[in-house]
Amino acid sequence: MSNSAIAASGLRKAYGDKVVLDGIDLDVPAGTIFSLLGPNGAGKTTTVNVLSTLTKADGGSVRVAGHDVATEAKAVRAAIGVTGQFAAVDELLTGQENLQLMVDLNGVSAEDGKRTVTELLERFDLVEAAKKPASTYSGGMRRKLDLAMTLVGNPRIIFLDEPTTGLDPRSRRTMWSIIRDLVADGVTIFLTTQYLEEADQLADRIAVLDQGRLVAQGTPDELKRQTPGTHVRLRFTDVAQLDAATRLFPDSTPDHEALTLRVPSDGGTKSLRALLDRLDEYSLSAEEFSVHTPDLDDVFLALTGHATEVEAK
Ligand SMILES: Nc1ncnc2c1ncn2[C@@H]1O[C@H](COP(=O)(O)OP(=O)(O)OP(=O)(O)O)[C@@H](O)[C@H]1O
Ligand SMILES: [Mg+2]
Repeated sequence: MSNSAIAASGLRKAYGDKVVLDGIDLDVPAGTIFSLLGPNGAGKTTTVNVLSTLTKADGGSVRVAGHDVATEAKAVRAAIGVTGQFAAVDELLTGQENLQLMVDLNGVSAEDGKRTVTELLERFDLVEAAKKPASTYSGGMRRKLDLAMTLVGNPRIIFLDEPTTGLDPRSRRTMWSIIRDLVADGVTIFLTTQYLEEADQLADRIAVLDQGRLVAQGTPDELKRQTPGTHVRLRFTDVAQLDAATRLFPDSTPDHEALTLRVPSDGGTKSLRALLDRLDEYSLSAEEFSVHTPDLDDVFLALTGHATEVEAK
């Protein structure tokens, strides 16, 4: 356990009579990426807030960087950085001024501070925007600036609450590569996300949070082994065709109501061509054809038997 950057056991939190965290146990080894995966309202932000001393738990214990969050909050805060779900950027200040503000708050010397600001602006590709007010930044730029601000104090453990939600694919990839670089430098990352793909891309370990409980924990591969994999979905115009196709592909699963057939596949061009050729050979034609990679919904369905529930607000 001495190698744990974050260790929580039996974490509980309720707001009024609503139980939000219902006994969370987790352990994040130093220098790794841990991803907490869950839909809206699962309790991700609450978990981050408790682990980062922003919210007090009702029960259980948490050690971060070897310190107890309840009794040694100050020592914990000195070791961590938190990039919240909603950017903590000051809209009226420029990117450069926002970073300078963090430098001042961290008590960095003027000379080191100046170097830090310049380095971070370059690293996050914000040099051109540095002198413009943050209110003019795009969502992706704002998230990058927010993370850059978190890095000013050089924290060894970083909490990122949905760092890529709302970002376009390119900005998402940029964020991923920044996160990978941080881990390469030995930083520990605790990341929440709603995207299975993101957790799969980044995390050493994933925990799936469902209504305040961890319903699964493991490496991405372990998790994927428990969930249905990539498959092809074919839709036919009648039951006769569906049944004929079902006989052609032994591992397939028909849905008679939707007239669809689910065929396991790696989704590669070779196997897709073979599949289509085989349909053709038997004069079957699908009305619709799609390749489906597993997402959070598939994981939830497999692990909990229910879909991700959008919270009634
Ligand atoms: N301060 C609060 N007072 C009352 N209820 C709260 C409070 N903070 C969170 N909750 C409730 O706790 C539950 C979990 O919220 P939380 O913000 O942790 O979810 P989340 O997984 O981060 O969701 P999202 O993906 O939407 O950010 C929700 O039902 C929410 O309404
Ligand atoms: Mg949240």
